[in-house]
Amino acid sequence: MKRRILVTAALPYANGPIHIGHMLEYAQTDIWARFQRARGHDVVFAWADDAHGTPIMLNAQKRGMTPEQLIEHFGAEHRRDFRDFAISYDNFSSTHAESNRELVEEVWGKLVERGSVVTRTIEQLFDEEKGMFLPDRFIRGTCPKCGAENQYGDSCEVCSATYEPTDLIDPRSVISGAVPVMKSTEHYFVSLKPFEQGLKEWLRAGALQTEVANKLEEWFEEGLRDWDVTRDEPYFGFRIPGTENKYFYVWLDAPIGYLASFREVCNRRGLDFDAWVRPGSDAEMHHFIGKDIIYFHCLFWPAMLEGAGFKRPTRVQTHGFLTVNGTKMSKSRGTFIMARTWLDHLPADYLRYYFAAKLGPGLVDIDLNFDDFTSRVNSDLVGKLVNIASRASGFIHKFGHGKLAAGLPDADLYAAFVAEHESIAADFEACNYASAIRRIMALADRANQYVDEHKPWQMARQVDREAEIVGVCTQALNLFRILMIWLQPVIPGIAARAGDFLDCSLNDWQQVDQPLLDHPIEKFAPLARRVEAKQVEALMEDARESLAPAASEAPEAPELELEPEITIDDFMKIDLRVARIVEAGQVEGADKLLRLVLDLGGESRQVFAGIRSAYDPKDLEGRLTVMVANLKPRKMRFGLSEGMVLAAAGDSGGPFLLSPDDGAVPGTRVK
Ligand code: 2FM
Ligand code: ZN
Repeated sequence: MKRRILVTAALPYANGPIHIGHMLEYAQTDIWARFQRARGHDVVFAWADDAHGTPIMLNAQKRGMTPEQLIEHFGAEHRRDFRDFAISYDNFSSTHAESNRELVEEVWGKLVERGSVVTRTIEQLFDEEKGMFLPDRFIRGTCPKCGAENQYGDSCEVCSATYEPTDLIDPRSVISGAVPVMKSTEHYFVSLKPFEQGLKEWLRAGALQTEVANKLEEWFEEGLRDWDVTRDEPYFGFRIPGTENKYFYVWLDAPIGYLASFREVCNRRGLDFDAWVRPGSDAEMHHFIGKDIIYFHCLFWPAMLEGAGFKRPTRVQTHGFLTVNGTKMSKSRGTFIMARTWLDHLPADYLRYYFAAKLGPGLVDIDLNFDDFTSRVNSDLVGKLVNIASRASGFIHKFGHGKLAAGLPDADLYAAFVAEHESIAADFEACNYASAIRRIMALADRANQYVDEHKPWQMARQVDREAEIVGVCTQALNLFRILMIWLQPVIPGIAARAGDFLDCSLNDWQQVDQPLLDHPIEKFAPLARRVEAKQVEALMEDARESLAPAASEAPEAPELELEPEITIDDFMKIDLRVARIVEAGQVEGADKLLRLVLDLGGESRQVFAGIRSAYDPKDLEGRLTVMVANLKPRKMRFGLSEGMVLAAAGDSGGPFLLSPDDGAVPGTRVK
């Protein structure tokens, strides 16, 4: 039966570049969409940029742009990144598009009509200097529970308490620093209680992973509170019909953007929108999301859908977060890697493959460990997979005039591969890609074993064995072809090149049943190259160099990302010294770096520092600064870096090099 499937990934904010944490989700979604297409189903992968909200408004102001210009800029950048990561979406819209405004108003009208909207006057903190109400994240103050200073309006990072922003002691506006005042305002709320029964039925009907369903039940037990969907002006969003100065909260219109984007596809292709999305339709709707936004997708969204007369999602597939080398992505460690930086150094397919190899069906976090990544790609993709084709292809040209044999010498082996087809498909269907990859790689081992056993290179030294050699290599290439068909959703770039080489399409899973025989093939060209350690080093170096925010990088609500706590002993291990910059110059091939020669009171050190965007080298010569003098020297592409200078890098400009007052003596310890 041909299924009709709408697939979505969570909408990225049009407020900053795409990083590899985003890519974990988009790769997962894309693999699933490609898999379903290859199985012959009707798939529409529709999504958009998430364009509204306070952070986008403030970010645009800061850059002297309109929000429309800002979202346009990031929209274009996002599209380029997705194209180069081979994300095969059918439509990428914006939640600010007219198509979304129409649908948002339609949904809202329905919710009002059925009595799901209530108004209530609330008291909220207001920044009089800025003339705006403050979202929780834009207020900081002292935690009412533990007294820690500089905590957010909704929760304390020190004691984990959650509270109302009005509970904060000595609150301040993050935007202006002003002391906010209480002000009352009328807000619209969507009442969720009437949807509880429907949600409860839905949550056990197979749409959700068990962990997620359990989470929801906890929320039901705590009691569902009405959802505040109003924001007062100034706000970048859609105005609420019938009001002068009230806007829909970004989280109301964002998921509606899934459907608006899909409706654009329907209009373009003449598909019947209603026939896909109304209750009773057998068309499916699958959302891929991260575990931080379950509440929005599994409570608010299905409630809104029900209230507005749409069918609820068939499935919400939730994944964990990405860590790199075991910890949260970090700019200073060079593990906060933008999608574009990745592409500058390594193929998209390698990241897609690694993610797939690690993605199970659950919510566990996925770690990108670079040593593991390197050995995985080299051993699986290059050593096992591509190796089958490269060992077999030459003989087909040498002894078979470039044409595969008319029959398979080992039809049983071929059948043994085909026998795995449905298990592999079931793994993909369940988003258990890790299991699919294990099965596929075990078969790749068998294919290589087959070649090893028959040793075509030995036969080639004997007489009259040409036909046999072509047979063995035809067998090997047919096994390779099946593996590539299964892997095409994961590594579409390599699969496309393999398809060119075999001169056949690898996008149709049904073709696994039929071997490719009596068929001319092209000369073999390398399908994938080994990852070299120096590529990974250069990638991380580049990521670290982008420490100073690039022009395209936009701050979200300010957030202090503290490293784990250390003791005074830990601190004393860092040997900080006053240093004088005696030489400063540019570094060929590194547009963010300067080469510094530092004098530590007699001893001299070379350091490469990512401060070129802010300093003219000649202004630095003679200046005092502070350096980490006992940092293990690091070999960079340009030479040895023997320490690190201290600089502040913020979202608003910089980096700013730290300097002691005049009079400090080079070489003195800084404590
Ligand atoms: O968390 C986020 O990054 C949101 N921009 C996701 C929105 S998904 C959907 F609801 F639109
Ligand atoms: Zn606290």
